[in-house]
Amino acid sequence: MIDKLKELIAEVEEFTVQSKEEIEDFRIQYLGKKGLLNQYFAEFKNIAKEEKKEFGQVINRLKNTAEEKVKALRDEWEKKDLEKGSYGDLTRPGEPIEIGARHPISIVKNKIIDIFSRIGFNVSEGPEIEDDWHNFTALNLPEHHPARDMQDTFFIQTNPDILLRTHTSSVQVRYMENNKPPIRTISPGRVYRNEAISARSHCFFHQVEGLYIDKDVSFADLKQTLQYFTTEMFGKSEIRLRPSYFPFTEPSAEVDVYWGLETETDYRMTKGTGWLEIMGCGMVDPNVLENCGIDSKTYSGFAFGMGIDRIALLLHQISDIRLLSENDIRFLEQFKSAL
Ligand code: PHE
Repeated sequence: MIDKLKELIAEVEEFTVQSKEEIEDFRIQYLGKKGLLNQYFAEFKNIAKEEKKEFGQVINRLKNTAEEKVKALRDEWEKKDLEKGSYGDLTRPGEPIEIGARHPISIVKNKIIDIFSRIGFNVSEGPEIEDDWHNFTALNLPEHHPARDMQDTFFIQTNPDILLRTHTSSVQVRYMENNKPPIRTISPGRVYRNEAISARSHCFFHQVEGLYIDKDVSFADLKQTLQYFTTEMFGKSEIRLRPSYFPFTEPSAEVDVYWGLETETDYRMTKGTGWLEIMGCGMVDPNVLENCGIDSKTYSGFAFGMGIDRIALLLHQISDIRLLSENDIRFLEQFKSAL
């Protein structure tokens, strides 16, 4: 028996493998629960007393040799794997990739652009730092016109002619100056007004303004376009136009959409009326067309303008406009599923 064990020790010492799997087979063969070693250990009680000591020593040597062999083989193969540049277990699930979220302003803006682009409007942009002509004068708001007070303006201190645009109507002026009718364009962008910052208003916010100019454009075209918009945007097609005043449009109107009074939220949003004011609009004043080099005898058009922030607050039930510009990740992460 002892000789057999010594033979096994020699065998173990000589042992080599062709693959990683063979190491595990070898381990099970010798060191496993039902392996050779345990079988020989079980023989211990049958060994003659005088041989017990030597048997014990040899079997322990076999055990140690086998254990060392397994370890040595494993190390050897691990090194080989590393040299090969192995990627480890390729079936392991990958690291999850963090998905960002669009800002609620972008979500609403993209939706508006998408809706108007489907009926042929393109997107135009212009500078946020404007001159007096494009923001006011060309829009039928000459110097000292009282309606300039409707939009509290940030002026650049050293030059009263330069200001932060108070609306993106300035982009429409630029567009009319550089393009011939027919014109169908929407102008999204950030605008600035010198107002106290509160939960309801900020000194900057975002607008989308639209402009349509062609021969024979009528107020009916305006209303139809707005109705298409509210249906696509909110799923609501009932609108009403209340007479209003803007220096650059005549006639002018505020647009309300009938939101309904089905839920408590509807009550809160519409102050119990069911109606929600969403934008201003009107037929472009002939003076504005002339200021921009368009013949007002041949062409007519309509314009409208709405606040993106206000719509984002409404749609997502956000109670404080300041959240939109604070970049708080806990707030922004909530829009992951919103497109
Ligand atoms: N420019 C207006 C504003 O900022 C909105 C508007 C645009 C109204 C076009 C009528 C027509 O309040």
